[in-house]
Amino acid sequence: MFQRFLGFVYLSAVSQLASLTGAQAECPNQLNPQRAVVRYRGSVAVNCSTSVSHKGIGWESSEGAVVKTRDSLITWRVSHLTEWDIRPVCYINREGQCVVELPVIIYKTPDNVSISIVNHTGPMIAGRQYQLQCDVHDVAPVQYLTVKWYKGQTLLDQTTFTEDSKTPVNVNPSVLISPDRDNDEAQYKCEAELDLGAEGPQPPPKKTSGHLNVELHYKPKHSKSAETIIQKDVVTLNCTVKANPAPVYTWYSDHLKVDISSSVLQSSTLSPGNYMCNATNYLGSDSKVFIIESYCCEIRRYLVVVRYGGSVEVNCNTSILHKGMGWESSEGAVVKTSDSLITWRVSHLTEWDIQSFCYINYERQCIVDLLVTVYKTPDNVSISIVNHTGPMIAGRQYQLQCDVQNVAPVQYLTVKWYKGQTLLNQTTFTEDSKTPVNETVTLLIRPDRADDEAQYRCEAELDLGAEGPQPPPKETSDPLNITVYYKPKHSSSTETIIQKDVVTLNCTVKANPAPVYTWYSDHLKEEINSSVLQSSTLSPGNYTCNATNYLGSDSKVFIFESTGPGYYMCIATNSK
Ligand SMILES: *[C@@H]1O[C@H](CO)[C@@H](O)[C@H](O)[C@H]1NC(C)=O
Ligand SMILES: *[C@@H]1O[C@H](CO)[C@@H](O)[C@H](O)[C@H]1NC(C)=O
Ligand SMILES: *[C@@H]1O[C@H](CO)[C@@H](O)[C@H](O)[C@H]1NC(C)=O
Ligand SMILES: *[C@@H]1O[C@H](CO)[C@@H](O)[C@H](O)[C@H]1NC(C)=O
Ligand SMILES: *[C@@H]1O[C@H](CO)[C@@H](O)[C@H](O)[C@H]1NC(C)=O
Ligand SMILES: *[C@@H]1O[C@H](CO)[C@@H](O)[C@H](O)[C@H]1NC(C)=O
Ligand SMILES: *[C@@H]1O[C@H](CO)[C@@H](O)[C@H](O)[C@H]1NC(C)=O
Ligand SMILES: *[C@@H]1O[C@H](CO)[C@@H](O)[C@H](O)[C@H]1NC(C)=O
Ligand SMILES: *[C@@H]1O[C@H](CO)[C@@H](O)[C@H](O)[C@H]1NC(C)=O
Ligand SMILES: *[C@@H]1O[C@H](CO)[C@@H](O)[C@H](O)[C@H]1NC(C)=O
Ligand SMILES: *[C@@H]1O[C@H](CO)[C@@H](O)[C@H](O)[C@H]1NC(C)=O
Ligand SMILES: *[C@@H]1O[C@H](CO)[C@@H](O)[C@H](O)[C@H]1NC(C)=O
Repeated sequence: MFQRFLGFVYLSAVSQLASLTGAQAECPNQLNPQRAVVRYRGSVAVNCSTSVSHKGIGWESSEGAVVKTRDSLITWRVSHLTEWDIRPVCYINREGQCVVELPVIIYKTPDNVSISIVNHTGPMIAGRQYQLQCDVHDVAPVQYLTVKWYKGQTLLDQTTFTEDSKTPVNVNPSVLISPDRDNDEAQYKCEAELDLGAEGPQPPPKKTSGHLNVELHYKPKHSKSAETIIQKDVVTLNCTVKANPAPVYTWYSDHLKVDISSSVLQSSTLSPGNYMCNATNYLGSDSKVFIIESYCCEIRRYLVVVRYGGSVEVNCNTSILHKGMGWESSEGAVVKTSDSLITWRVSHLTEWDIQSFCYINYERQCIVDLLVTVYKTPDNVSISIVNHTGPMIAGRQYQLQCDVQNVAPVQYLTVKWYKGQTLLNQTTFTEDSKTPVNETVTLLIRPDRADDEAQYRCEAELDLGAEGPQPPPKETSDPLNITVYYKPKHSSSTETIIQKDVVTLNCTVKANPAPVYTWYSDHLKEEINSSVLQSSTLSPGNYTCNATNYLGSDSKVFIFESTGPGYYMCIATNSK
């Protein structure tokens, strides 16, 4: 993998030593350390020492050379190393010259590490291949470099370099990835690490790129392609599936009348059969079939309407082979039999909230619910006037009350008000009660003079629908006759009468109580209290009559004229 730089012995022009590996061992001078790893522009110090007597020892180097001395230890020292290809050697002179070269590794961490996708922008698509590239700028020596690739915290791959270079280079290794649907929103990064061995810095220096966030697009894929649902269970047919972009849903079934685009359906609203849903985005579609199985027999709900105390009979039958069927009920239960028809029978039903169902044991148990409505017509329906007795006064307001006793179920009750044959108002009830209740309904009336002796009544009707008795049973109250008091009122306030007619001046007027009459006129000697006057007994003039009862009075003027102008003339002639 790595072509590691292991160090070698420099053969000086003056050296007489031929062996590469034996050189240091045979030379009496030793290096400490034997190998130098130095950061570019960093400092370094290496000792060369000997224990033998010699004629001179020294360092030869383009930087930091030490001239020959008689010492037994000399130090090569550079404080700011900038020469990439430096080759210092320590020599010792005795009979001849012995030379040891110091291997120096100068390293430089990259200026910059960055990650990118090659030739691609926008979201990636699951299953396709993409190339990630890591740009590492200005790193040396490249043979010690490892580029590691990560997805999240997971090491995906690593790249090393075989080229041999002492000076910094740029490298841009790449890897191929094919992301899958399970890790959408993955984060990629690359890391450049320089592992320079035991003499190098610890831990090895590394530099990491920024994160590359990739949005992943993938098509819908259901974990199961079919699912069976028993119709009795109330569940959702859930087609929801992960996909990016979010899928649109379409349902197909012979049993669906309209297009549905939601991801779920409620089983309770569906009939048995197959329902296929198709989840689609631009990358593809995936469908799933939901099979709704009927629950061994058809679920039917029977409605029964029974009078309280009355009798009832309902048949439950089946055409399938079964392991037993029966009726479960608080009254009239039928134990399990092997028949195919059994009858629930109650002759005198006295339970208001009766729960009853027929069961058929098959592979599962099938239940047919019976919905029983127990009704009772009212014991009594009565009408009354609230807080009032005696006659009513025309124009005032009164309240009538209707009491309906012991009726059930009140939600089917209608109370109607009549005046004579005219329907005035009606009331229904929203409360929900299976047992009998008492209801009181009121009606506001403002009778007028025409309503004297009017007859009011109220009627309680139980309309139980098509399954109930026809016509709907009704109970009516006794009639309430009202007396209305009102004052006299003449239809006209004057009347002209010609003397020659023999007529009655008729002041009679309707009023309750009956009015008393009083006549006023200059021509009457005394007050007259009858309702009529005979014209034959009167002389011409104005006659006012006043009809009065305790509620008020009304008067009328009879203008009793002589036969005509001629008559007046004649009188005038006589008087002359
Ligand atoms: C080099 O020699 C000096 C002087 O004896 C000593 O202080 C230093 O520790 C030595 N360095 C190494 C790396 O041995
Ligand atoms: C590193 O590289 C990235 C991408 O090429 C660039 O945007 C950024 O400026 C560079 N940073 C340095 C310090 O050079
Ligand atoms: C990137 O696209 C360009 C233009 O289409 C093409 O020339 C180049 O070879 C592509 N590079 C890679 C690495 O696919
Ligand atoms: C449908 O399934 C999805 C994913 O399994 C879930 O998040 C969602 O709550 C389910 N919806 C219903 C109504 O059950
Ligand atoms: C799902 O719907 C898509 C788009 O309408 C269609 O192309 C595809 O054939 C459908 N798949 C199935 C299994 O019906
Ligand atoms: C009826 O009269 C009584 C006593 O005067 C009074 O307390 C009550 O509120 C009245 N009821 C109505 C409905 O007017
Ligand atoms: C209805 O009224 C009658 C007579 O007042 C009474 O006996 C009965 O208990 C009442 N029923 C209810 C349900 O209040
Ligand atoms: C007629 O009946 C309705 C419903 O019960 C009620 O709101 C309304 O007040 C009644 N009208 C009269 C005049 O009592
Ligand atoms: C109410 O009036 C009717 C006829 O108008 C009459 O037959 C009936 O007897 C009266 N009822 C009462 C309680 O006065
Ligand atoms: C007076 O008029 C009333 C009502 O119109 C009528 O019933 C009555 O018979 C009349 N009386 C006479 C004497 O004409
Ligand atoms: C009788 O009454 C009429 C109408 O109110 C009036 O015009 C007339 O003058 C009166 N006659 C007498 C004699 O008072
Ligand atoms: C009619 O008689 C009543 C009672 O006597 C009296 O109060 C009223 O003023 C009279 N009306 C007329 C128009 O004379």
